[in-house]
Amino acid sequence: MRKVKIFDTTLRDGEQSPGCSMNLSEKIVMARQLDKLGVDIIEAGFAIASPMDFKSVQAIAAAASNCVIASLARCNKGDIDTAWEAVKEAKKPRIHVFIATSDVHMQYKLRMNREQVLQTITEMVGYAKSKCEDIEFSAEDASRSDREFLAKAFSNAIAAGAKTINVPDTVGYSTPQEMSELISYLRENVEGIDSVDISVHCHNDLGMGVANSLACVKAGATQVECTVNGIGERAGNASLEEIAMAIRTRRDFYDAETNINTREIYKSSRLLSNITGVPIAPTKPIVGANAFAHEAGIHQHGMITNAQTYEIMNPDEIGVPHRALVLGKHSGKHALRERLESMGYEIPDEELEDIFTRFKKLADQKKTITSSDLETLTLYRSKVTKTEESHAPSCQLVSHSITSGSNIPKISYVKIKRADNVMEGVESGAGPLDAAFKAINKMLGIEARLEDFSIRAVTEGEDSIGEAVVKISSAASGEMYTGSGISTDIVEASLQAYLSGINKMFEAGE
Ligand code: KIV
Ligand code: ZN
Repeated sequence: MRKVKIFDTTLRDGEQSPGCSMNLSEKIVMARQLDKLGVDIIEAGFAIASPMDFKSVQAIAAAASNCVIASLARCNKGDIDTAWEAVKEAKKPRIHVFIATSDVHMQYKLRMNREQVLQTITEMVGYAKSKCEDIEFSAEDASRSDREFLAKAFSNAIAAGAKTINVPDTVGYSTPQEMSELISYLRENVEGIDSVDISVHCHNDLGMGVANSLACVKAGATQVECTVNGIGERAGNASLEEIAMAIRTRRDFYDAETNINTREIYKSSRLLSNITGVPIAPTKPIVGANAFAHEAGIHQHGMITNAQTYEIMNPDEIGVPHRALVLGKHSGKHALRERLESMGYEIPDEELEDIFTRFKKLADQKKTITSSDLETLTLYRSKVTKTEESHAPSCQLVSHSITSGSNIPKISYVKIKRADNVMEGVESGAGPLDAAFKAINKMLGIEARLEDFSIRAVTEGEDSIGEAVVKISSAASGEMYTGSGISTDIVEASLQAYLSGINKMFEAGE
């Protein structure tokens, strides 16, 4: 069977989209999970974009063990030098150079003519090759480029040393048939194409990112670029989990396979949603809450008789945890570790200690702790991991109390701790949370503005865990930070979320 490589760009194209930014420690946690998921290539970032991007690419290059680590670079020496500096310690480094090839991009963005672009490709792919063996070349806006010119651009890149040529549908404009024809055309007309990987990179503006990528696989593409949960610029990129499961479920049709360990899909999806605070739509294929729920009686009857009547994939293949009741308040650390291991979480001792403390606290509030409760506690581990270089002490919630009701003032009391400094504040506001957030701002002497707030139940039952997500902006810098918190008490979850956003602000040096 043909192998299709999965090139994950969650940490570059995905992270670039509004509301999805991650700090250094979050990117490392995500990169480790991508490594476990079995992606072939992690695009760790765009090293030249900022010193923080450079640091993240460098840290991921050091942290990820199995896969190729790539950094994006425009076709100029400064970008390529920086990309190489960032990835060179990886076991398998790659530089991913790109330049636009459509007339509209060349004329209005690059202000270059076709000859200049062809020459730049030859020179810059060659320059990148002098530093790094593994070079990928992307022709930005390939799907709207003149085909003959595009074929020349790729031929030049291959002659200069590119090992992968990437065909992006940058603005999500193409249809599956057009993308399939484009791949067939390039296979016929690009010199040396048989000795390189043909990659595709489809955006989802018309909702065809996954369909376009799969059409290219059918036409002979050997690499697909995609993101977990389909996050990315505008309407996002093609979604990794949909592509991996379509190729697996319809291997009879695609005659292809990937290296993805599909049992890690669910965990990867939840982890990303948890880090970014971007929820997953219930109807999202593969990882949405309803993806395996059968409501209609006729379906339920069919499922009981034979699951294949209405289920084309087994949720176990994706690693969806069983919703069985698992532990109670008398369960010990050993039982907790065993249960987490059976769910696929290997937790180092020092982190288990933290999860166990929070497990005990939760067990005091809930009768039974289910797998999804445990999963939520485990995912929140990433929230306690601080950037190694960050020396900013973080704030913790010590206690709180609110008064609220109709026709009475809404007043909140909050006690927080930052290093050894314990602070208390009381404020009134439009509602109890407004009052509590004001009190926190005042105690810390900061001006953080609440931009967005959501709360939802993340586990089942009446005593479910609530997850609050806040987006705050710093009045000083205008930067946005996402924070989240969990608790069976929604006010507590909201205050934790607010403080976690503020901690990220401190970590960023504000
Ligand atoms: O969408 C796009 O064209 C890109 C390239 C840089 C590969 O992200
Ligand atoms: Zn893109």
